[in-house]
Amino acid sequence: MKFIEPTEVAAMEVVEDAIDEVNKLKGNANRAWNEASEFDANKDKNNFRQYEDACDRVKKFYKEQHEKQTMEFNLRIRSSFKKTVRARMGIWEAMEMLDTLVDDSDPDTSVSQIEHLLQTAEAIRRDQKPEWMQVAGLVHDLGKLLYIFGSEGQWDVVGDTFVVGCKFSDKIIYPETFEANPDAKDPVYSTEYGVYQPHCGLDNVMLSWGHDEYLYHVLKNQSSLPEDALFMIRYHSFYPWHRENAYQHLTNAKDQRALTAVRAFNPYDLYSKSDEPVNPEKLKPYYQGLIAKFFPDVIEW
Ligand SMILES: [Fe+2]
Ligand SMILES: [Fe+2]
Repeated sequence: MKFIEPTEVAAMEVVEDAIDEVNKLKGNANRAWNEASEFDANKDKNNFRQYEDACDRVKKFYKEQHEKQTMEFNLRIRSSFKKTVRARMGIWEAMEMLDTLVDDSDPDTSVSQIEHLLQTAEAIRRDQKPEWMQVAGLVHDLGKLLYIFGSEGQWDVVGDTFVVGCKFSDKIIYPETFEANPDAKDPVYSTEYGVYQPHCGLDNVMLSWGHDEYLYHVLKNQSSLPEDALFMIRYHSFYPWHRENAYQHLTNAKDQRALTAVRAFNPYDLYSKSDEPVNPEKLKPYYQGLIAKFFPDVIEW
């Protein structure tokens, strides 16, 4: 495990908050999220500067991610993922470990990771959604443990995901930043279908590596969660698809079901951060009960 500096962690939190902010703004169809003038009209100068900073930060983050998420990287990272067990621990322990990520970061910038997981689960529970969906909310970001286990940076942990191995969709945020990705000039990977067959299904395409893909691969054989929960986990950052309707030429009928699941989940992820604060110790017995229903005591991470 690598040693992580508190400042590094705070930096990831700041980037994540900015990414969330952009995704919320993009969700508001009446507002061009990156057009400053409209936003400026309703905000004072100070807020606006913060907004501009957030945009710069997000753009810098995606520039790096879009250069580095190549087919070559994705093949390499998946093969190394399969060869190693990074930790052995239960779900609650993993939540606590993820929370150590933010202990030293600025409490004003964000809710902690464990709070975000519990707030997401609690919002789903409040709406009387099934237990498996509450559990999906509870665990959906545990893949960020990658950051503790030794990711190469933030670009291979967080951010919106997209398909590698075919033309980068122009529905991906900052599509122009893919120019620096070697795959954009590859004779196969740069074509409409790339290495894929028409309507091969998302199961058969490679999504950019990050906390979603990682957690999906950890849990698919180590939980009794229904497929819909696994869809929510795997595709929750796949905004080009679940919000922008990209990749219609690759998806099949099964993906329609996944889309419904992910769209049902997304508001809980994005909007529960402004909910009431939660008390992890108070909620622990209830969620420990749910965890026992869907997971073994110890998971290989
Ligand atoms: Fe996430
Ligand atoms: Fe999340």
